[in-house]
Amino acid sequence: MAENFDLSGRVALVTGASSGFGQHFARVLAGAGARVVIGARREDRLRALVDELGADRALAVAMDVTDAGSVAAAFAAAEAAFGTVDLLVNNAGVAAPGALHKTSEADWDWVVDTNLKGAWLVAAEAARRLLAAGRSGAIVNIASVLGMATSRGHGVYSATKAGVIQLTRHMALELAGKGIRVNAICPGYFKTEMNEAYFDSAAGQQYIATTPAGRLGRMEEMDGPLLLLASEAGSFINGALLPVDGGHLVMSI
Ligand SMILES: NC(=O)c1ccc[n+]([C@@H]2O[C@H](COP(=O)([O-])OP(=O)(O)OC[C@H]3O[C@@H](n4cnc5c(N)ncnc54)[C@H](OP(=O)(O)O)[C@@H]3O)[C@@H](O)[C@H]2O)c1
Repeated sequence: MAENFDLSGRVALVTGASSGFGQHFARVLAGAGARVVIGARREDRLRALVDELGADRALAVAMDVTDAGSVAAAFAAAEAAFGTVDLLVNNAGVAAPGALHKTSEADWDWVVDTNLKGAWLVAAEAARRLLAAGRSGAIVNIASVLGMATSRGHGVYSATKAGVIQLTRHMALELAGKGIRVNAICPGYFKTEMNEAYFDSAAGQQYIATTPAGRLGRMEEMDGPLLLLASEAGSFINGALLPVDGGHLVMSI
């Protein structure tokens, strides 16, 4: 069974790999045998991760997911170094908390361009290159429980993650006959740079205590879900949305 989860010979690209989930995912995929291309804007962070993983296994690419030219250049660099990317973890994301009626147009554009347009640009580039190479592959989009539920002050973010969920389902439908699976993980709350100030605060800790699990997720609790969707172990899973949230979405009303 373990060999179904093995990623030897695969070429993965992880966006938003300079911190949080993305950095962790790169380590997990490399540990499972993949060569990993790590993309983000903060190149110093990426270089440190390549040093850790080894230059034979990892490649850093400067990448702004909101810019189609930057996305295409990152895939071209990945392909030149390791071959066609056949595993994409579409993870880069940002949040701008605030009620929708108080949200500025600049914040709307920033979050929508990064989380939704960016996810589409990167997934579409990956799919085009796989189709051109006649290869099968897997795309794992990182959505959120907030793509399925509501939370005061998180409307813009939530709308983009709902968009990522429908992007996932439509790409799964369109690519199903071509050997490319597209699935989404919907994480609950995990402490990362995006939210650590809140979860370190008394208000954040009180909120987490009210959730079914009564705690934040631990990074390693994403490993199994990620490897399932990325590997042959998940070969018949397509268009699925996998909450990894300790039951947060089934909270009693
Ligand atoms: N933490 C949670 O509780 C949670 C829950 C549900 C979903 N998520 C999702 O998980 C994903 C990762 O978030 P995280 O929690 O790990 O937060 P994080 O530590 O803040 O990481 C966000 C990553 O996105 C990258 N990024 C942002 N804008 C980018 C751009 N324009 N181009 C390329 N990369 C960009 C950042 O890199 P640079 O700044 O270096 O470019 C960074 O590596 C996000 O999609 C987030 O919405 C997180």
